[in-house]
Amino acid sequence: MIVKHNLIFILYSLCASVFKVAGTKSKAKGGQGQFPITQNVTVVEGGTANMTCRVDYNDNTSLQWSNPAQQTLFFGDKKALRDHRIELVRATSQELTITIGDVSLSDEGLYTCSLFTMPVKTTKAFLTVLGVPARPEITGFTKPAMERDIITLTCSTSGSKPAANIRWFRNDKEVHGRKEVNATGKSFTVRSSLQFQVDRRDDGAAYTCSVEHVSLSNPYMTTEVLEVHYAPQLQIEPSLIIPQEGQYFKLECVSIGNPIPEPVLWSKDGGELPDIERMIVEGRELTITTLNKTDNGTYRCEASNHLGTSSAEYVLFVYAKDFPGSTTDPNAVAPHGPDHALIGGVVAVVVFITLCLIIVLGRYLARHKGTYLTHEAKGAEDAPDADTAIINAEGNHVHAEEKKEYFI
Ligand SMILES: *[C@@H]1O[C@H](CO)[C@@H](O)[C@H](O)[C@H]1NC(C)=O
Ligand SMILES: *[C@@H]1O[C@H](CO)[C@@H](O)[C@H](O)[C@H]1NC(C)=O
Ligand SMILES: *[C@@H]1O[C@H](CO)[C@@H](O)[C@H](O)[C@H]1NC(C)=O
Ligand SMILES: *[C@@H]1O[C@H](CO)[C@@H](O)[C@H](O)[C@H]1NC(C)=O
Ligand SMILES: *[C@@H]1O[C@H](CO)[C@@H](O)[C@H](O)[C@H]1NC(C)=O
Ligand SMILES: *[C@@H]1O[C@H](CO)[C@@H](O)[C@H](O)[C@H]1NC(C)=O
Repeated sequence: MIVKHNLIFILYSLCASVFKVAGTKSKAKGGQGQFPITQNVTVVEGGTANMTCRVDYNDNTSLQWSNPAQQTLFFGDKKALRDHRIELVRATSQELTITIGDVSLSDEGLYTCSLFTMPVKTTKAFLTVLGVPARPEITGFTKPAMERDIITLTCSTSGSKPAANIRWFRNDKEVHGRKEVNATGKSFTVRSSLQFQVDRRDDGAAYTCSVEHVSLSNPYMTTEVLEVHYAPQLQIEPSLIIPQEGQYFKLECVSIGNPIPEPVLWSKDGGELPDIERMIVEGRELTITTLNKTDNGTYRCEASNHLGTSSAEYVLFVYAKDFPGSTTDPNAVAPHGPDHALIGGVVAVVVFITLCLIIVLGRYLARHKGTYLTHEAKGAEDAPDADTAIINAEGNHVHAEEKKEYFI
């Protein structure tokens, strides 16, 4: 049918040009020697291709568009191929513009615009059809993955033309995969694989596959978040660095692991925790409300998940109350420490001075009384009368010494 149809058109166009050349020989100069002007066209699959053909000077000679299969699409304003996707935009003596809608990859090829002068002048225009890649799919995810498993993540996209580019990102940082491209018909299937050994740091890591292509203004992205199961890892954190008798004390068993390791078991010195009211176990925390020296020992917490069991130890050494070595204590009591020390110091000095005064005063009083008595006694013993006693050098000397003593 189509071939027949086309033949008629070709004949018709040939006749028309022959007629034109014959009929308007003298004024046919305008159309002679010049070729139609066309442009290569690139269109995204499913879009509309706009095919324009122009001549600068024309004397009513017809223009024609034909497809890569040499089928005439339009001859002037006459539609030649029955294809509802092909429409006429403009047909004048100087221009023939048609559109091809809902373009498919098979529409790609060399289109010809002919100017039916004698001889016929043709110009070719290449219609490029871009294949849009499908949204990427990531396969190979095992949810959850076990630590040390080797997994292969594969991202694939089909339907691109030219072949799309695939990039991988781990938490927004690019990582490189192994690329593979296969042609399927006129388009391509692109695949990129990442192979790695799963680490606990991959737990929660986002792997993004990005597909870039000329037909896309923004890349297509697909993200998968890895879940990794791994054995527990424990650590004990004490609430005080220098625990002292009588203090409130807490040990926390900090555990990481996926699934979360549970339950947390506490023990002391290889046995059960002593059954005393001061010790309270609440989940991951062991609280001792009032520390006592008998609490000394090695505390251990243990937890497990289906991948294993882990434990951590803490050696508790209860210092005596107001342990002098606990020089870190003023740190903890920093806001009140200096005040206490100051008040203590002032009180001590005041007490000391008061004591000194009392002693000095006491001694003075005692001395005064004693000397007086001695003087009297000595004078009475050494000399027969009061005058001799006063003149007595020894007595005088003793008296001077005593005076000196209590004046110091
Ligand atoms: C096609 O091109 C012609 C001429 O350049 C223009 O007038 C027309 O709007 C275009 N049509 C489309 C669908 O792009
Ligand atoms: C082209 O054809 C139209 C009518 O079909 C006519 O009026 C016009 O004069 C012609 N022009 C030339 C340059 O032959
Ligand atoms: C049009 O495309 C063809 C085929 O791809 C190429 O050979 C030619 O140089 C292109 N012409 C222009 C004007 O870009
Ligand atoms: C490409 O073709 C090979 C061989 O046919 C096949 O093994 C492979 O899976 C294909 N790759 C893609 C990305 O389709
Ligand atoms: C510590 O424990 C012992 C024995 O249980 C008890 O006699 C003592 O009073 C406790 N000391 C303090 C400071 O609580
Ligand atoms: C606990 O440690 C203290 C040192 O602060 C030590 O004097 C005491 O004997 C220890 N008690 C036990 C029961 O080990």
